[in-house]
Amino acid sequence: MSTFFVTTPIYYVNDIPHIGHAYTTIMADAITRFRRAEGHETYFLTGTDEHGQKIEKSAAAQGIEPKVLADRVVERFKDLWRILDIRYDRFIRTTDPDHVAGVQHLFRKVLEKGDIYPGDYRGQYCVSCEGYVPETAEDSPAGNKICPDCGKETELLTERCYFFRLSAYEDRLLRFYAENPDFIRPVSRMNEVVSFVKMGLKDLSITRSTVKWGVPVPDDPEQTIYVWFDALSNYITALGYPETTGDFSRFWPADLHVMAKDILRFHAVYWPAFLMAAEMELPRRELIHGWWLKDEKKMSKSRGNVLDPHILLKHFPADAIRYFLMREAPIGADANFSHQGFITRINTELTNDWANLISRAGGMISRYFDNRFPGQAEYTPAEEELREDYLELEKEVRAHFDTYAFNRGLERIMEYVNRLNRYIVEAEPWKMAGDESQQARLEGVLKTLVRAILSANELLAPVIPASSARVRAFFNHPHEGFGWKDPGETFTVQGVDPLFPRVDPKEFFAEELQPPRKSTKESPMTDTPKTPEGIITFDEFKKVRMVVARVTAAEKVENTDKLLRLTVDTGGDTRTLVAGISQYYAPEDLTGRKIIIVANLQPATIRGIESKGMILAASGQDGRPYIPVIPEDTPVGAVMR
Ligand code: MSP
Repeated sequence: MSTFFVTTPIYYVNDIPHIGHAYTTIMADAITRFRRAEGHETYFLTGTDEHGQKIEKSAAAQGIEPKVLADRVVERFKDLWRILDIRYDRFIRTTDPDHVAGVQHLFRKVLEKGDIYPGDYRGQYCVSCEGYVPETAEDSPAGNKICPDCGKETELLTERCYFFRLSAYEDRLLRFYAENPDFIRPVSRMNEVVSFVKMGLKDLSITRSTVKWGVPVPDDPEQTIYVWFDALSNYITALGYPETTGDFSRFWPADLHVMAKDILRFHAVYWPAFLMAAEMELPRRELIHGWWLKDEKKMSKSRGNVLDPHILLKHFPADAIRYFLMREAPIGADANFSHQGFITRINTELTNDWANLISRAGGMISRYFDNRFPGQAEYTPAEEELREDYLELEKEVRAHFDTYAFNRGLERIMEYVNRLNRYIVEAEPWKMAGDESQQARLEGVLKTLVRAILSANELLAPVIPASSARVRAFFNHPHEGFGWKDPGETFTVQGVDPLFPRVDPKEFFAEELQPPRKSTKESPMTDTPKTPEGIITFDEFKKVRMVVARVTAAEKVENTDKLLRLTVDTGGDTRTLVAGISQYYAPEDLTGRKIIIVANLQPATIRGIESKGMILAASGQDGRPYIPVIPEDTPVGAVMR
């Protein structure tokens, strides 16, 4: 059996998982499921990138060890992947001891070969951000640079480090791209990579002495291996490298590395060069998708515009998110996320078209046959045509999925689903139902619908696996894989439950995104009873959005004795709050703790700091605040009701 090895990038643990990470991971999962349905033996790898300065700093800001931070955030990734039905074979963490040993082995091997060598790195260093700035950063009047992150002047720093001889691989890389034009998809990204390499490659510094949180260089523990050398190696260490037997021999080279364009250069230039240096086979293909944007900007933690999938998951099943992300954006293009677009897409295609087809068919089988088909049906050419159309559909959809045109493939499946809905209208089975002489025809129509639904269901299964499993169960046909599905002439089915209940956009928006607007045309004729003084209605209560948040950083506001400035993770964003509690709570009492905040309070500026929301605390007669203790297993972002 041929094998197929798919990977996602390993995600940094200084970020919480958002729709962008979910997109890559769902895509890789769907591709893996598709290849498995085709008969490949698959291996799907994902994980987390836990070393390096960013994580070191995030942890320091929270007053915890980097590994403690990583342990916490990893659970957020694993939880989300479980909910989204991501079926990975291994979740690798760069802190896993077998990975660390594998990275050191690779480093030593390339060092012995002479393509890693010691030297001095000279660069413009930002003392405040503790990092080198790129050569493209703006020059300062004194001949240094201006740090693009904090705007301060940098200084020239020289430190001992090890270099990778990247310059020696320019020609070999160009030859490799020319001989493997399919290496990068879409092809426009390949052109970008080729032009980058043609501009000339400089040797790459691949260790740091200024960063401690990472894999130590073997025999030189003052030096830490650069995060990208460490991170990229995960694709081989996960399979057992340096052992080259077992999973490694079965699955390497990778068939597909999936990622967004932000990390193209690392994967398309550095990674192949590292592997060439280690005399190993190169990955077969890299699929580069676009970015999900929010309000036309890339979703990212630093911009504070990330979308938390849990908000959607409160209203929709995981399959709806999987479907939307795969259906909406053409591969390679950026896409702007709109909640309205999401709800409309799901309500139209999954609820009205697909789920409705299944419940109509299931309802009729229950009503007219008590879920049991007794005998031989009678068919007309219309039924044979549906089968032939299906076979054509399958060919087209598989070709689309093969070329990563998931949106086109799903669109075609929905055209077929609509064709089946029209078939019901045209065949008018409800008219046959009352007529004894039409029983065999009625069976023919309904059995054909079951076969067509089961067949189309398998094409949808890589993208919406949980609901596809339910459809198989409804119709008592557990067989997975492609082809025209036929349970035969005599079979029974189970009852059908609604698959994608319709979500009312008004309710969604009222609950999730904006506090409901005050009606401007309140009529004196309304007969809603007035509430007694001091009593509020449930609707009024619902306007206050209280959520569980985690304090990620806390500090005293300078020159005040009461105010603390808190940075909190609400599950949907990271924001700042100012609270008058500093006489009773020290910053370290709160860092890492879960609290409840009023999330939709109008922002206020306090001592020049914008405070977005309010922390909930009980107030004693002495004026002392008491912050409630939240059970540790309460998810961040959970809403108080
Ligand atoms: N740790 C490195 C990757 C090392 S792989 C050997 C890293 N991590 S990351 O957490 O920043 O993840 C980047 C990847 O997350 C992107 O390449 C993409 O796959 C996914 N995405 C993060 N934000 C995204 C969007 N807004 N839109 C689409 N994908 C996004 O880089």
